[in-house]
Amino acid sequence: MGQPTGRMAAQSHLSPDGSVSLATGRLRDSYGRQITDLRVSITDRCNYKCVYCRTGQKGAQYAELSAADYLRLIRIFLSLGIEKVRLTGGEPLLRRDLPEIVASIRVMRTETGHAPEVAVTTNGHLLEDLAVPLKQAGLSRVTVSMDAVDPETFERITRIAGSFEAVGRGIEAAQRAGLDPVKINCVLLRGFNDDQVEAFAGFARKHQVVVRFIEFMPLEEDRLWTPQMVVPLTEIVQRIGNVYPLIPLPETVAGETARRYGFADGIGEIGIIAPVTQAFCGACSRVRLTSDGKIRTCLFSHREHDLAMLTRQGASDDELRSAILNAIRTKEERHHIGEPGFLKPSRSMVHIGG
Ligand code: 5AD
Repeated sequence: MGQPTGRMAAQSHLSPDGSVSLATGRLRDSYGRQITDLRVSITDRCNYKCVYCRTGQKGAQYAELSAADYLRLIRIFLSLGIEKVRLTGGEPLLRRDLPEIVASIRVMRTETGHAPEVAVTTNGHLLEDLAVPLKQAGLSRVTVSMDAVDPETFERITRIAGSFEAVGRGIEAAQRAGLDPVKINCVLLRGFNDDQVEAFAGFARKHQVVVRFIEFMPLEEDRLWTPQMVVPLTEIVQRIGNVYPLIPLPETVAGETARRYGFADGIGEIGIIAPVTQAFCGACSRVRLTSDGKIRTCLFSHREHDLAMLTRQGASDDELRSAILNAIRTKEERHHIGEPGFLKPSRSMVHIGG
């Protein structure tokens, strides 16, 4: 893992003028990676102020697009080979039109003629009321960010009183609505919630949710990140394995970001997303659209490609299509977290979307 596909393979997809061709009928970058996964931050508003993302101060506000504008861009991405759309934020459930957005994407078609998969990543605060409407709208899956199973630790991270109870009710509502499996994302921060690892494994088993631990990445508004704050995959696996024996599970899809482990007694599984200690850039299939309509080809990009501006200038679908292809061509080979000279991107996760 971690090594990008070689340039040799990539070059066969470049036409003489250097543009990305669709020789295979699919969207590929200049390293030969197939891009199938679009993540759209549909708002940068958030009702939480998680320590690893926000400053807690009111930050710069960026415009969010109208549903019609996001839908148009998503339709164009789908026509180029995207198969899966994940709606993120900010907090996507703050958009009242979220169920309509989901339903509108579900009736679109991928380049191969299928209904696209639509998933949402949410903090879960409003899920209690929205789980059923989202399921009815055709939502395929939901991931809830939950960084502790202990209420005090949880609220020290979210900085919102009552958030633990609300998220618990949201997860239950999602399960009752038949959004299955509900996945939980837990970002581990040394000194904040790294004592939660074993308890989370117990929580995954008891509540039949798939917990995925994520290594902390330098994407926060505050300058909190240090290499020492990252809780590495090896430690997580070892600590859980000491309490509940684990068995590594095979990839279900090629290039899966999470390393999956099943509990030896067959009750449930966990996953670990290790972008810092075991980067998976070589298998990256993602492209992101920010809340203000810009393409980011990597979480750690320093350059964005402004589709919203082109839309405002009256660009045609074909012009947007070629802007997307040109942006994909510049997709970075890999990120450089932890290397000398690494420059943190200027925007945090709240704008980029996870
Ligand atoms: N490092 C790792 N994960 C993060 N997330 C947000 N900020 C960071 C960060 N700095 C997680 C959120 C969400 C997912 C999309 O990304 O908790 O679950």
